[in-house]
Amino acid sequence: MSFTVAIDGPAAAGKGTISRAVAAHFGFAHLDTGLLYRAVAARMLDGFDPVVAAQGLDPAHLERGDLRSPAVSQAASKVAAIAEVRAALVDFQRAFGARAGGAVLDGRDIGTVICPEAEVKLFVTASDEVRAERRWRELAAGGVDTTPADVLAEIRERDRRDSARATAPLRPAEDAFVLDTSRMSIDEAVAAAISAIGERQ
Ligand code: C5P
Repeated sequence: MSFTVAIDGPAAAGKGTISRAVAAHFGFAHLDTGLLYRAVAARMLDGFDPVVAAQGLDPAHLERGDLRSPAVSQAASKVAAIAEVRAALVDFQRAFGARAGGAVLDGRDIGTVICPEAEVKLFVTASDEVRAERRWRELAAGGVDTTPADVLAEIRERDRRDSARATAPLRPAEDAFVLDTSRMSIDEAVAAAISAIGERQ
């Protein structure tokens, strides 16, 4: 039997950390759908047409080391506004969500478009400043030379683009459980997510 957990939210809200922890806790598979758009963006920056890149996306493209760079982040939110790019990625994501044994998918449109029938939908958010600070620490730890102010501007620009696009804009599903992690530790946020999911199991 399938059991699908949809986790959406703006950039750097903690979706990835929460999704990995939840998947490990329940023994579910996890798909970071942002990586698909990042891989298409990286191929576009290499000179490929983004629609062709999305239609021909290969697992090897998801393994590249540069997918978390700020340049790829911005390009990802640009290719993600192209309806044909999104359409090319739908079947893979839906099949992942329907797999036996349970699946967690995190992204922007999982609860609204990809898996509207998901058993559990979480919308994970936090204030812009908190998200920027967390992402800046992550980037700095990974050796990326940037400032909290630049990261704040970067995620605001991406959120604006992701929320304003016509196809599958970023927004909580009507039946999503909204988890504001601004004042929570990682452990508290993970515990809240696990309890929301446990209630519906
Ligand atoms: O989640 P992450 O920040 O890695 O996603 C990168 C970009 O990919 C987002 O800014 C968004 O534009 C796009 N995306 C999307 N739909 C998803 C996941 C990511 O549009 N389900």
